[in-house]
Amino acid sequence: MPSAPRHVAIIMDGNGRWATSKGWPRLVGHRKGAERVKEIVRAAPDLGIEWLTIYAFSTENWKRSTEEVLGLMGLFQRYIQREAEGLSAEGVRMRFIGDRKRLDTKLQDLMAWIEDRTRGNRKLNLTVAINYGGRDELVRAMRRLARQVADGSLDPEALDEAALDGALDTAQIPDPDLVIRTSGETRVSNFLLWQAAYAEYEFTPTLWPDFTPEILSDILLRFQGRDRRFGGVKP
Ligand code: IPE
Ligand code: IPE
Ligand code: MG
Repeated sequence: MPSAPRHVAIIMDGNGRWATSKGWPRLVGHRKGAERVKEIVRAAPDLGIEWLTIYAFSTENWKRSTEEVLGLMGLFQRYIQREAEGLSAEGVRMRFIGDRKRLDTKLQDLMAWIEDRTRGNRKLNLTVAINYGGRDELVRAMRRLARQVADGSLDPEALDEAALDGALDTAQIPDPDLVIRTSGETRVSNFLLWQAAYAEYEFTPTLWPDFTPEILSDILLRFQGRDRRFGGVKP
């Protein structure tokens, strides 16, 4: 039986619908969603997960109301402030991907601070995608490489997949084995476009605030029943 996926990436979707269905403001759904993150992060190492990447805010999510955007940004700040201690105690190394420049400087400082504080942790690599878009990430990486070509430090002929990989926000992170999306939507919404080239996908109708370690465990079992061929032929 194939082993558990080493790197699981999750598109946490459905917070708004969860709250609206109960007659509550969308932000209540996001708060509940943050609780679920804590639970899943705690459960991940026992499920054999070494790398967990979660999509928290996309480059397209700025289209939402100011109230919702500010509410989400506040939630990210509070999550870092409140969880710093616990994440460290649980051996979680935290990283962020996405373009930080558009974020509030206080949030940027907190992100840098927790990345630094948890740098030595080894039990779980948690990556949070904030102001992340796969296309935006590729454009920023290509700009970086173009600068190196322009200043003569990179030969265009030496530009290969590894070089592009190394210029992405995920340079230090292995590709995801499994991408999960909650809430019944079956689209990628600009998540890890390059990195998920050979990922398996799982879609669950469960809204993110209702997601549990048990549901995750079931999904992982299904993953283990899959036949990953990477373009080859089954022996
Ligand atoms: C996912 O939940 C969280 C973010 C995108 C920030 P949504 O807020 O997209 O919830 P729905 O899809 O509207 O239900
Ligand atoms: C994707 O969810 C982004 C995150 C989960 C952060 P969205 O709810 O923004 O995606 P669409 O709009 O349904 O494609
Ligand atoms: Mg959504």
